[in-house]
Amino acid sequence: MSWHLEVEEQDKLEQQKLIASYCIPKHIAIIMDGNGRWAKEQNLPRVKGHEQGIITVKDIVKASSQIGVKCLTLYAFSQENWNRPQDETSALMQLLELYLISEIDELHKNNVKMHFIGNMETLPNNVIIQVDNCKNITKNNSGLNLVLALSYGSRQDIVNAAKKIAMQVKSGSRRLEDIDEELFSNSLSTNGLQDPDLLIRTSGEMRISNYLLWEIAYSELYITDIYWPQFTRNDLYAAIIDYSHRERRFGKISEQL
Ligand code: FPP
Repeated sequence: MSWHLEVEEQDKLEQQKLIASYCIPKHIAIIMDGNGRWAKEQNLPRVKGHEQGIITVKDIVKASSQIGVKCLTLYAFSQENWNRPQDETSALMQLLELYLISEIDELHKNNVKMHFIGNMETLPNNVIIQVDNCKNITKNNSGLNLVLALSYGSRQDIVNAAKKIAMQVKSGSRRLEDIDEELFSNSLSTNGLQDPDLLIRTSGEMRISNYLLWEIAYSELYITDIYWPQFTRNDLYAAIIDYSHRERRFGKISEQL
């Protein structure tokens, strides 16, 4: 069923209020943290935290689409996450594959366009196949842009962009004077997506963890103590309401806005 027909009565009222009275960020980026701690508190293995985290992912994607968010970028696996024990990285890769296989039809039906950022070559083949499939199937969609950061590290992305531009200058296809912020932005893996307006991090950690370092220069930060598996659409709405009260000055003073 279409997500727009699936909204429960009470939630519909919340969503209507949110849309009418507050400013919906065009692009929300999320660091989904706390799966492991949530599982530990329940005396469950860490992988159960990731499984529960996927249930949260599904609902947050749906809610974001319903309220008209244009782009949602989720940090699903960092390049540094490869340093975790192998049984956990394998379980996460399996869960990712399963998620992509089981959700693609519903995402496509709901006009979601899927993007992937990160070092795809380091992913297992079965995941790469699903990534390519999802990109292909949804490439002409015009609804929510869902960006999954997989094996992603922002410093690496910045280095890759610098190399790309350096090669162009070296080959003569670009002049040194052409290098500006716009060209640099367009050379990153987030090329074509506008910068996040709001960055949410769950589980209370006060850090950025090598996520979208260039792109979040002027994003509003929202950090909640709630672990990702417990994060609900109501928590998303609370983050949006908080964001709406911020004054985004971009270096100017209030009177100039
Ligand atoms: C951080 O929690 C979470 C991750 C490293 C993985 C996030 C993955 C998912 C939510 C599931 C897969 C995602 C998609 C999009 C299908 P943690 O393990 O670092 O928790 P901890 O800090 O409490 O140990």
